[in-house]
Amino acid sequence: MKYDFDMEIDRRNSYSLKWEFMHTGGKLAHTTRFLNENRVLPMWVADMDFVSPKPVVDALTQRAQHGIYGYTAPTQSFYNSVIGWMERRHGWRVGRQWICVTPGVVPALNMLVRAFASPGDRVLIQPPVYHPFYGAIENNGAEPALNPLILENGRYGMDITDLETKCKDPRVKLAVLCSPHNPVGRVWTRDELICFGEICLDNDILVVSDEIHGDLIYRDNVFTPFASISEVFSENSITCTSPSKTFNLAGLQTSCIIIPNPDLRSRFEKILQRNGLFGLGAFGAVALQAAYDHGEEWLVQLLEYIKGNLEYLEAYVVRYIPQLTVIRPEGTYLVWLDCRGLGLDKRMLKKFMLEEAGVYLDAGFIFGPEGEGFERINIACPRSILAEALDRIREAVGRFSSDGARQAP
Ligand SMILES: Cc1ncc(COP(=O)(O)O)c(C=O)c1O
Repeated sequence: MKYDFDMEIDRRNSYSLKWEFMHTGGKLAHTTRFLNENRVLPMWVADMDFVSPKPVVDALTQRAQHGIYGYTAPTQSFYNSVIGWMERRHGWRVGRQWICVTPGVVPALNMLVRAFASPGDRVLIQPPVYHPFYGAIENNGAEPALNPLILENGRYGMDITDLETKCKDPRVKLAVLCSPHNPVGRVWTRDELICFGEICLDNDILVVSDEIHGDLIYRDNVFTPFASISEVFSENSITCTSPSKTFNLAGLQTSCIIIPNPDLRSRFEKILQRNGLFGLGAFGAVALQAAYDHGEEWLVQLLEYIKGNLEYLEAYVVRYIPQLTVIRPEGTYLVWLDCRGLGLDKRMLKKFMLEEAGVYLDAGFIFGPEGEGFERINIACPRSILAEALDRIREAVGRFSSDGARQAP
């Protein structure tokens, strides 16, 4: 079956966070700015403007038509779907007992910090990084220990010397790895993961590997689940995963937290209990199973389409907006744009994209001060929308550059 990713679908009036809400004055507010003729184009939060695979839509439709939506719990076939996916796609053999279900990875990260770091402890992260990592740490009384990534020749890497130093701090109890990395798009190599994992082991630091983007990998790159590397890594890690990014199911709030080590697992389960979290959403369960069992064909086509979008974006920026630089992602549908060539400070840059270009991107500084001067664009949309967004940025940059030139002495 051939899927049509070019089709534009009206997402307004569907409670869509991406198409109906915007951050203004530090708050998330319902907005009409994406509505009118000269609408702002939303290219921010990480969900896709594509319909999920047909088997998922069919399974959900059938479930909706059943008409009874009572309490739901994961069955053996639910677990088999997760296990089958991890083994087929990533060569990782997951035990049935290792899987805990949560209503999302972000809630799980918050609970993991509560379970494994006491107030005053530190949690290592690698900025610029997915901004809710900061929230998960700070909301739960811990402090971030920062090991910023280094940008060299257009590619980000880990600063291993700094990592070794930071990990020696006995207050660091947990390290949250973003793998693949949002927003810089790195798919960590096996060697990088081994290096990271060994430093953590040497310093008694538990690794939480957020692998929510692990299925969204561009050809020629290989994603390695951290826990699959060795028995010791498996015992010293917790993996956060979900079909939500892969199959566009974020609104169904179903994720799997995989914890091979029984002691760590029972500590996490206690926190789930303390939050009264058990069972799972009826639609999330159905969608996960249909996606993992029957969604592979769709995913293969999706990755081709997004790769096409990435190539379009890269060629466009080089040709028409040389003031910007695309940091080429190896995975994820989020692209990190280096906008420092515009010479705008962080607030001006955000305002420029929104007010001058009419595109709503994620401002780089929300991922940490290391992201200042950058913007994150979500390219999981029909190419026509991406093309329109780029035309708008090009025109705005053109106006800005000629105004700037006129103002120059
Ligand atoms: C690295 C990372 N983790 C977690 C999430 C969100 O997870 P969830 O929707 O399951 O809470 C995202 C969404 O963008 C993400 O990029």
